[in-house]
Amino acid sequence: MTQVIVIEPNKTLHELISINLSAFLAVDIIERQNAADAINLLSILPSIELVILPSKIENEESAIVLIDYIKLNKLKTNLIILGGQRFFDEDFVQSIPKYADWESVILHSAKILGIDPEKLKPKIGPEYFPVALNYFYSLEHTLCDVFIRIRKSPSEFQYIKRIHKGDEMTAGLVEKYEKQGLQHFYITKDDYKNFTTYLSNQLVLKLEKELSDQKDINKYIKLMGESYDIATHEILKLGFQPESIQLTDSIVHSMVRNTNSTPVMANLLHKLINSKTGLLFQNAHMTSVVAQEILKKLKMSQMESIETIAYAAFFMDIMFADYEELLKINDREEAVLLLPEQRDLVLKHAAIAHELVLTQPALPIGVGQLILEHHGAYDGVGFNHRIDGFSDLSKIFIIAREFVLRLILFKERGGETRPITDELYKIYPAPDMILIIKALERSLKKTAN
Ligand SMILES: [Fe+2]
Repeated sequence: MTQVIVIEPNKTLHELISINLSAFLAVDIIERQNAADAINLLSILPSIELVILPSKIENEESAIVLIDYIKLNKLKTNLIILGGQRFFDEDFVQSIPKYADWESVILHSAKILGIDPEKLKPKIGPEYFPVALNYFYSLEHTLCDVFIRIRKSPSEFQYIKRIHKGDEMTAGLVEKYEKQGLQHFYITKDDYKNFTTYLSNQLVLKLEKELSDQKDINKYIKLMGESYDIATHEILKLGFQPESIQLTDSIVHSMVRNTNSTPVMANLLHKLINSKTGLLFQNAHMTSVVAQEILKKLKMSQMESIETIAYAAFFMDIMFADYEELLKINDREEAVLLLPEQRDLVLKHAAIAHELVLTQPALPIGVGQLILEHHGAYDGVGFNHRIDGFSDLSKIFIIAREFVLRLILFKERGGETRPITDELYKIYPAPDMILIIKALERSLKKTAN
C-alpha cells in the first residue's frame, strides 16, 4: 500500500486530510510532528512518495528543510505544502495557497500518485455545506433543517439532524453546541441558497433594529462585520441577488451613519481597528470613514460623493474575501514573491472587482472607476503612484486607502511612531495630493472641528 506522511499540527485539518486520503486514494497515512521527524522516517523509508505539510511549524522552516533534504538525497518524494505565501519552483513541490483547502490536497495527491482526479470529483462534491456557528446567533428561527457532522467510520461522516425546520433558535442553544467545541452546523446543498437569503434578510432587519436603539457601538460594528462577511461571500458565490444587494445597502449606509455620528474620527478608527471583525471589513469601513472626513474638510461632502466612496470601499478588495492577508500587499515587488495564483489575484484584484460591480447597475455612478483606480493603475492592474488624469474623488480615495493600510500594518507590526502622512507626502508630491493629505491631517486632530 502507498504510504503518505501527513504533518499537520491542527488536529481537525489533519483528520480531514487523513480520512479523505485513505477513503478516496486508499493510501496508508503516517503521522509525523514536523520535518525533522519526517526526515528520520525518510532515512529508513526513502521510497515514500508523498509528504503533506504546512510551510512552517513553530520555529521550523519545515518546507525548506524537507526540500533541501529531498534534493540532497535525490529522493523521488513529492511535497504538498499547505498555506504560506512563498513560491517554490522545484518540480516535486506543489503549493496550496489556502491553508485549509483539504479538497485541493486530495486532488493534487491523486495526481501525484497517478490516480485520475476526475474520478474523485463526484465523491468529493459535498451534499452538506458548513455554516459557521456564530451566524446562527443572528437567527430567531431556522427555515431549514440543521445538521451536525459526526464521524461514522474512519472514512465516513454522518450528518445528524439537530434542529428542525421552523424551530426556534436561541443564543443558549447555539452556545450549548459551541461549548462542546462545534464550529459549524451543516445545511443540505438544496437548502443552502435559501438559507443564505434568509440569513441576509435577518441581518438586514437586525442591523436596522440595532441602529434605531444603538447603545453599544462595538456590538453594532461586530454585527456589521458579520454581515459584510455574509454579503461579500454571497456575492462572490451567487452574484448580485436581491437579498445581498439589500444587505450591502444596509452595511454601506451604516458605514456612512457611523462616520456622521462620531464627531472625532480617530475614535471611530480606534474602535474599528480593535473590533472583533475581519480585516477586509475593517479596511473597507476605515477607508470609507477617512475618505468621507477628507471630503468634509475639502467641502466636497455631497451625499452622492459620500455614497460613491462608501460603496467603492465596500467592494474594492472583495476578491480577497478568502485571502484577507493579501490586502496588505501594496507594491509589485511584494506581489512577485507570491505563488502565481495569488500574484495574479493581487495584481488584478481591482480590475476583477471593477468587472464585478459593472454587473450591478443600481450602484452609484463612479463606484467602478474608484475601484479600478484604487491602486493608482488606470486599468486596475498592478500598482502605480502616478495619478495624472484621475478625478478628485479617486485621488481622495487613494489617499484614504493608503493611510488606512498603514494604520493596519502599524497595528500589526509596530515601528516608528512618526506621522503616516509624512510618508504620504513623499509618495504623492503633486500639489493637489498635498491638499488632500493636509485635509486628512486636519481630520486627524483630536477635536471635532
Ligand atoms: Fe486593493
